[in-house]
Amino acid sequence: MSTLDRHDTIRAVAFGGEVLRLLDQRRLPAAETYLECRDAADVAAAIRDLAVRGAPAIGIAAAWGLVLEARRATALGQPLPAALAAASARLAAARPTAVNLAWALARMREALARAPADPLAVLAAEAQAIQDEDLAANRRMGALGAELIAPGSGVLTHCNTGSLATAGFGTALGVIRAGFASGKIAQVYATETRPWLQGARLTMWELVRDGIPARLIADAAAAHLLRAGAVQWVIVGADRIAANGDTANKIGTYALAIAARHHGVRFMVAAPSSTVDLATPDGTRIEIEERDPAELLAFAGQRTTVAGAVAWNPVFDVTPAALIDALVTERGVIERPDAARLRAAFAPAARGAA
Ligand code: MRU
Repeated sequence: MSTLDRHDTIRAVAFGGEVLRLLDQRRLPAAETYLECRDAADVAAAIRDLAVRGAPAIGIAAAWGLVLEARRATALGQPLPAALAAASARLAAARPTAVNLAWALARMREALARAPADPLAVLAAEAQAIQDEDLAANRRMGALGAELIAPGSGVLTHCNTGSLATAGFGTALGVIRAGFASGKIAQVYATETRPWLQGARLTMWELVRDGIPARLIADAAAAHLLRAGAVQWVIVGADRIAANGDTANKIGTYALAIAARHHGVRFMVAAPSSTVDLATPDGTRIEIEERDPAELLAFAGQRTTVAGAVAWNPVFDVTPAALIDALVTERGVIERPDAARLRAAFAPAARGAA
């Protein structure tokens, strides 16, 4: 087993023919239990309720949701186009910000349109391809991102971008895994990521499992840490990258980018090309999901605020492209991303040439 394979042992999304098994991220790290989805409605609920989360992972789960739906409708003798259209709409509506969800559903639709004769086989093959390509992209981004980092560096990451959020290995966490394996990264800091604690519950679970030196910090400790000089790169993932490079990611990412620029710390976004959305011109057009204020008003099921308190709970924000030093995708590294550089890398002519 190679060093990198040793850092690639978690599979949060697994299709088993009859069911889609999802490592239930609501219960980690206290319990490692799997949720079994039998149709698209189950998958949509799992995405909405964060049993599966992270931009690439929800796209992969949605693709398998359509496979389950095709099997269900076929078994019941229901017309497939109507069943798939309804399932697709339901899955797309589960969460609005990560473009990977709509991207995966569109890819499934296009695959079926190209080869409609054997829909069950075509859909299953496409879902598997989406999952396999995501894993390969993560391994490639890990290598590319690690090359940017000087030996012995400290890095700060936000939210969870690891195996749990992807087909495996991770985006920003994949860069961290590759950077640790090659001696580039000596110390990782992970933000807690209030209110859902993706950093505390999930990223720390992945890093401790992998034996990567990691310290948890409160979200509010980040600027203080960056000023101290222990961190050379902030490395985050993305939920949607607009055509001009503006990047939506977990709430708090924008504040980290401002603090990084202020303190001369470099800021890296690692995301597969499925997260790039050239149809969205800039960050102002990205829909930011707002979740139930109850997620803020209580902690671990215990109310922490006075009865009558109200809250606002946006769960993503947009980092302007001007604050991003490097965008790493499986296609390569774009330094100081802007509209021209993204168009050159991702517009259809560039894709055809690649
Ligand atoms: O609300 P979540 O947990 O789905 O948010 C996840 C993030 O913001 C991640 O940083 C992003 O999806 C990239 S995951 C590789």
